[in-house]
Amino acid sequence: MFFIYPFTTLSMYNTKQQQQLFKQSKELFKAACPEALAQAKNMSLDLQALIRYHEWRYYVLDQPIISDFEYDSLFKLLEAIEDKFPELITPDSPTQRVSNDLTSDFATVTHLTPMLSLDNSYNAEDIFEFDKRVKKLVNAEEDLSIDYCVEPKFDGGTIVLVYENDQLVRAATRGNGAQGEEITNNAKVIGAIPLSAKFSDYGIQKVELRGEVLIRKDLFEKVNDRRAKAGEALFANPRNAATGGLRMKDPKQVRERALDAFIYQMGFAVNEAGTDVLNQFTTHDETIQTLEKLGFKVPKLPQERKVCKGVGEVHEYCQNWEAQREEYAYEIDGMVIKTNPLALQELCGYTSHHPRWAIAYKFKAKQATTKLIDIDYQVGRTGAVTPVAKLEPVELAGVTISSVSLHNADQIKEKDIHVGDTVLVERAGDVIPYIVKAMEDLRDGSEKAVVYPSNCPVCKTELTRPEGEAVWRCPNTMGCEAQVIGNLIHFVSKDAMNIDGFGEAYIERFYKEGWLSSPADIYQLDYAKIAELEGFGERSAEKLRKAIDESKNTPASRLLYGFGIRHIGRTNSKILIAEVEDIRDLKDWKEEDLISLSDIGPKAAQQLYTTFLDETLIKLLDKFAELGVNTKRLESEKKKIVDENAPLANKTVLFTGSLPTLKRAQAKKLVEEAGGKAASGVSSKLSYLVAGEKAGSKLKKANDLGVTVLTEEEFLELIGK
Ligand code: IVH
Repeated sequence: MFFIYPFTTLSMYNTKQQQQLFKQSKELFKAACPEALAQAKNMSLDLQALIRYHEWRYYVLDQPIISDFEYDSLFKLLEAIEDKFPELITPDSPTQRVSNDLTSDFATVTHLTPMLSLDNSYNAEDIFEFDKRVKKLVNAEEDLSIDYCVEPKFDGGTIVLVYENDQLVRAATRGNGAQGEEITNNAKVIGAIPLSAKFSDYGIQKVELRGEVLIRKDLFEKVNDRRAKAGEALFANPRNAATGGLRMKDPKQVRERALDAFIYQMGFAVNEAGTDVLNQFTTHDETIQTLEKLGFKVPKLPQERKVCKGVGEVHEYCQNWEAQREEYAYEIDGMVIKTNPLALQELCGYTSHHPRWAIAYKFKAKQATTKLIDIDYQVGRTGAVTPVAKLEPVELAGVTISSVSLHNADQIKEKDIHVGDTVLVERAGDVIPYIVKAMEDLRDGSEKAVVYPSNCPVCKTELTRPEGEAVWRCPNTMGCEAQVIGNLIHFVSKDAMNIDGFGEAYIERFYKEGWLSSPADIYQLDYAKIAELEGFGERSAEKLRKAIDESKNTPASRLLYGFGIRHIGRTNSKILIAEVEDIRDLKDWKEEDLISLSDIGPKAAQQLYTTFLDETLIKLLDKFAELGVNTKRLESEKKKIVDENAPLANKTVLFTGSLPTLKRAQAKKLVEEAGGKAASGVSSKLSYLVAGEKAGSKLKKANDLGVTVLTEEEFLELIGK
């Protein structure tokens, strides 16, 4: 895909230009000469444009070409200049996105045009009915085909933006449709909302735009992770995180929520004389294209919006979207169908509630109510006891749900859940189903309060609740069947020893036979006995032996990860093994030495230190060594010296199609020289796809996943060649 940056010519903004700016700034401040102001003005304008360009790439296109570090450096430089010359601060300077004003009360503002609702439809029939109604309203023949523009119905919070003389002057919530709350300071920290846009190029002096503020599903999970770590209440879903975010008192906190904004309508536009100038556009699609050119984030053609020829195409497009909604990066609850020609919109008109020219096609509900029959308590491999609600099976967006996790005792208390309650269940995107709330009004008195168990449901040991933690744990680590089996399952799992074909069922069976209680037993199994087990035989026993033998050469970091020590996940295991020659050497490390390793936190350090204080793990490792299981670091696990400043540090690059000048091997070498890694396939983790001519499915996939796509020229520029 090719994008034209809408604001300024870009030829000047290459890496060299940026370096030049840095150099100039230093000299500038050193000299502090009378010409400084004039020079600073030029520089600050250049920097503003440069930062705006990178913000546009990052927030609107999702295609950054500089690192966060580089962006921050540019930003700091601009801040430094503005600090020295405050008269250079313009209202649309990128620094003005970080507003320092706390909002005490949100003022009420009146929208320039009322913000109505949408009529809803739930099935194909409703869509065809809508088409018939439109035709009647505009006096069209029944067999005429009308153009409709179809877009996702974003599930976030409505935002209404007003620009005057090309500057963002006001942002408001939808409120009651006529009046909303003024949230300009909060809107300013949303990177996808331009602080200024050249509406004057279209003769527009004042314009009102409508859009939706959202949070990307993956970022939502990060926000919740962060909140969980900080002990704060979690958001039930991305919509709550977004709407709550819009109304926060401190814009700095709004910024942390990483909100996004899609604009889907230009509702009002006048010129200097106050005359309506919306009529310069013939279709809704044209207004959206214009907004896109002006730097707004809009539903993109063809993935996110389509001009459908006739209602048949509309129906098909809606159905395709419904089938793929889970894969989309944002939460949506349906599609919005709008008659594309603006003249037809005018002919259709409005009811007091909704426009007659549009309808929302709502997807199947992701919320439903059902009965909570009972609560099960499951013991995980770390001894954590998780309450799981058993539900009367209910269908949610195409999936039958019969149990959901209640996480911990606090959640049950907070939601005041009783056994026998009718509960509201939600399944949102990739988020696992959860109970939103108990429907208190539907209680009939037969519901029973939840009595949390005081003893382990598996081994009956008294549960403990470590200070500062939300979960109750069974402390019988070595003796509790659930924990022993859970740990063995973890040990053989894919990311640990990866023993092919050795799954949960085998582990439980061998455990029950009394053959397996510690990971070392895995390497001392009696295959003759296994072959005699019902359902086994020589061949499967031999297959298992081979898989277990092969696992003896597993890298040490995976063996360490396989022990399932709390806070020692895959990444920490790799970091630790890079430091030692043999896992056993870790016993000599003090807590403070461990903390000094970058990325090893205090909890991980403390846990590892205490684990090694006890002889059990060392004895187990000695046993492993005796049985021929690798405990030593492999060459590939050694620490790599990464130059964090290299242009492609921590980045992955993939090439596709035929490149104008570079051969594939040459290109890969350049990636490595620039500190990056050549990737083999497209995933959302890929940093850059460099696409040449005849790029096929990889390019499509990269675009679908929002991976940054570069030309060979852009790639060379990025690595400074
Ligand atoms: S057009 C006159 N387009 O849906 C109303 N609305 O019920 C025109 N929404 O809260 C609205 N995505 O914020 C329109 N692509 C889209 C939308 C959209 C989400 C929301 C809107 C409002 C609700 C209307």
